Amino acid sequence: MESEIVVGDREQLAAAWIERIEGEAAATIAARGRFVLALPGGSVAEAFVPPLIRARIDWRQVELLWLDERAVPPEDPASNFGLAWRSGLSELPLAPERVHRLRAEAPLALAGAADTAETAERELRELLGSSPRIDFALVGFGPDGHVASLFPDHPALRERERWIVAVDDAPKPPPARLTWTLALFRRVDLAVIAGFGAEKAAVVRAAAEDPESDLPLARVARAAARRLFLLDPPAASALAPGAAGRVDDSRGSIRKG
Ligand code: 6PG
Repeated sequence: MESEIVVGDREQLAAAWIERIEGEAAATIAARGRFVLALPGGSVAEAFVPPLIRARIDWRQVELLWLDERAVPPEDPASNFGLAWRSGLSELPLAPERVHRLRAEAPLALAGAADTAETAERELRELLGSSPRIDFALVGFGPDGHVASLFPDHPALRERERWIVAVDDAPKPPPARLTWTLALFRRVDLAVIAGFGAEKAAVVRAAAEDPESDLPLARVARAAARRLFLLDPPAASALAPGAAGRVDDSRGSIRKG
């Protein structure tokens, strides 16, 4: 598995993110007529959504998805959609019918949540059609290695068929959420995995260097066809120095085989 790793300060990472998403969006729209983009919640959304305002992307051709959502209405401060919207999405010329937030605020009771997950999955299957492909997913992760609302050792990690499931016991509050499963992460072409801070260094190393790791982050990284890590120096600090690969000194990019 080859990973591309870019290490830099927030400004350099934001520049790398914009450069990459502009290139991928243009090529994908030219080839397929649309660009299916998925966003996370958390600090990565806070850091990487605002710079999108200056990105040269044909936003009318973008289908926008979220990797997970907390069971709160979109205007709630805890909403992942709400976070991205307030961080700058509301200023982009998006086609409203192409913004597919996960409606996780409906019933919190488990049966209701399962229905909500099913409805979200049905809509997504209609959107993605017979050769489902998510062109580009921006992925955040926790210090425990969770991604979206897939937490280490949680039964949701074992789901093989369903794309979206309800979780009612997330260790990170709030407990009730909808989340993508690994079955859906397998449809991702490029995963841009971003993280900041030394508390994330150990799981970064596992995901980038341990092909056997069971952590959700490692499994999501392996599931995508291609992966790019965008890391600040503390988050990259546990990576093996000079491990297999080349350093592109202009941008601090390392390719690892
Ligand atoms: C959520 C997020 C979650 C987030 C990670 C990392 O709903 O909580 O989608 O998966 O991306 O917890 O969050 P931080 O980047 O804020 O640490």
